[in-house]
Amino acid sequence: MKKTVLMLSTALIAAALSSAHAVKVTLACGAVGQELEMCKAGADRWAKKTGNTVAIFESPNLTNDRLGLYQQQLAAKSSDIDVYQLDVVWPGLLDQHFVDLKGKVPQSAIDQHFKGIIAANTVGSKLVALPWFTDAGLLYYRTDLLAKYGYKSAPKTWAEMASMAKKIQVGERRTNTDFNGFVFQGKDYEGLTCDALEWLTSYRAGSIVDDSGKITVNNPNTIKALSAAASWVKTISPSGVTTHAEEEARGLFQSGNAAFMRNWPYAWSLGQGADSKVKGKIGVAPLPKGGTTGQNAATLGGWQLGVSNYSTNQKEAIDLVLYLTGPEEQKIRAIEGSYNPTIPTLYKDKDILKANPFFGSLYDVFTSAVARPSGPTKEKYNQVSQAFSGAVHSVLTGKKTATVAVKELEADLIKIKGRGW
Ligand code: GLC
Repeated sequence: MKKTVLMLSTALIAAALSSAHAVKVTLACGAVGQELEMCKAGADRWAKKTGNTVAIFESPNLTNDRLGLYQQQLAAKSSDIDVYQLDVVWPGLLDQHFVDLKGKVPQSAIDQHFKGIIAANTVGSKLVALPWFTDAGLLYYRTDLLAKYGYKSAPKTWAEMASMAKKIQVGERRTNTDFNGFVFQGKDYEGLTCDALEWLTSYRAGSIVDDSGKITVNNPNTIKALSAAASWVKTISPSGVTTHAEEEARGLFQSGNAAFMRNWPYAWSLGQGADSKVKGKIGVAPLPKGGTTGQNAATLGGWQLGVSNYSTNQKEAIDLVLYLTGPEEQKIRAIEGSYNPTIPTLYKDKDILKANPFFGSLYDVFTSAVARPSGPTKEKYNQVSQAFSGAVHSVLTGKKTATVAVKELEADLIKIKGRGW
């Protein structure tokens, strides 16, 4: 009897102690596709393991809107959010608001990730965040329709893509007036910067600003690349494409209304879902080259987790970041949501490759993706990106010719640069 009482009270004391130490950590994560749902699930697994709780801060879909909101929170030194999900182009903009994870997490937890992604998260000597998943632009296509119209493989150049898209669109429109040849991210936002950087790089036009900080965008290949993209609008792409972000493009493709789509890897898992009209009919290929002398190019995207300087629960917040960015969680997210791991060894994992065969076949696309010029343009990257996407948008909507838009963009970038980035 005495023993039972003693055991009971020990258990009560332990429970009381652990709940006294349990804290609530607030995590701001994305909401594109399955992001929110999967973020919650991962956070719940950590909460269960540690006895702490996690509140999810729901963020807007567009990366630009998220940045604006986070900048407000951080400028106010708000302790409301402990852990932020950061876009790969943000560390140089937001570094001063984040805890340096170097020395605070085991070195092995840093070394397990791709070196390049760790470098993108390092500003000076500060490790601003740990990588959670990486992204690269891909060409999705309908395997059934390519076969139906006599094509044996995915297009190798943009011109080939456009002619295939046209033929398929003409054929499919006989029975489906909503059908489109090609959908992509043509809205004026960060996503268009990503798509258009792919067009430029595929035509060997450079990446807006080079690594030394030189403005390189005004060159004949940029004009070729943007003119080609403008020719797609209202021919193989709907006029509404200039208002489409990732989810609008996915909606059209997944409902069976597009032959080709440019999107990130997350669209794969949803396209294979039970409610997808194109389940089992999707192929994935590298984005086409800009002509036969061009190259395949994918923009590097991806998201990281960082701990706010203003968090009052930094110890637990760091533990949550370590857990979510670790191999176990990255494996679950790769299988359930086709989020690309940032840990090279996971690309050899059989379960991951079974769920996402293109993680193996397109491995080089993921490891050689092109960075946006956030490194050289530092705190001014957002202004550079907005000027670029605005200029590209004016070409897509037919307001300006590529030649005029690119010349004006160069002048704007010179102004933004001022005496230096
Ligand atoms: C994806 C990428 C991110 C990019 C965004 C643009 O989320 O991972 O890096 O900025 O798309 O819409």
